[in-house]
Amino acid sequence: MYFAGMKLLLLYGSTDGQTDKIARHIKSEAEKSGVEVSIYNAADNPPAPKGFDGVIIGSSIRDRAFQARVVAYVRTYVSELNTIPSIFFTVSSAAIGLREQGPKSWRRKGLTVLVDTFLKESGWKPLLVEHIAGAIKFTKYSWQTKAGFWLMALFSGWDRDTSIDHEYTDWEAVDAFVKVAYQQIKTRNEQISSARTFRVPSDLRMHSCYFSC
Ligand SMILES: Cc1cc2nc3c(=O)[nH]c(=O)nc-3n(C[C@H](O)[C@H](O)[C@H](O)COP(=O)(O)O)c2cc1C
Repeated sequence: MYFAGMKLLLLYGSTDGQTDKIARHIKSEAEKSGVEVSIYNAADNPPAPKGFDGVIIGSSIRDRAFQARVVAYVRTYVSELNTIPSIFFTVSSAAIGLREQGPKSWRRKGLTVLVDTFLKESGWKPLLVEHIAGAIKFTKYSWQTKAGFWLMALFSGWDRDTSIDHEYTDWEAVDAFVKVAYQQIKTRNEQISSARTFRVPSDLRMHSCYFSC
């Protein structure tokens, strides 16, 4: 197995469970590639990045913000994170149908601004940023949230049956994204061990969203 022996830390923040589900899917798929993944909810006292070959961090977006525990983790460990290959994925409703909307859609611009602001404020330099479509879980929402998402669904052409939840995550695209993530982590580690110094060149930072939206 090409990635055998790689040890990754996978850390995530989730409110209604969709990012949690994506993170667990990534872990179980990782095993097929020989990657060893230690998975942590950011709320459960996650370990420092040191000692891992790479770190994948995921956060859902709620009220135009990332999960507070994820933000706190990145702020605490930003120096370490910038010496180890790291990847960021976001989970949101803004990423639903993003690929079809093209590179200049207002949703993509909104996601880019949100991520860029976070990365600038924290100083974190992940190798890759991916936007993954999440779920609209009507059955978990208050009537106000339900009404808000029903209206959004009306204008966006999403499912409007509020008696059930609607998942928009493209699992094949998630698998394609993580394979690229592993490859980038592996390549970067090879570069680090040959160069002995590590700095992420700014031109290597990518806003991909190529795989899942
Ligand atoms: C109260 C609430 C606020 C949300 N705010 C945003 C938002 O600002 N931008 C966005 O793209 N999606 C937003 N979403 C959609 C979530 O990102 C989406 O449902 C995602 O799947 C949630 O993942 P989680 O279950 O891991 O928290 C919001 C959802 C809820 C319920």
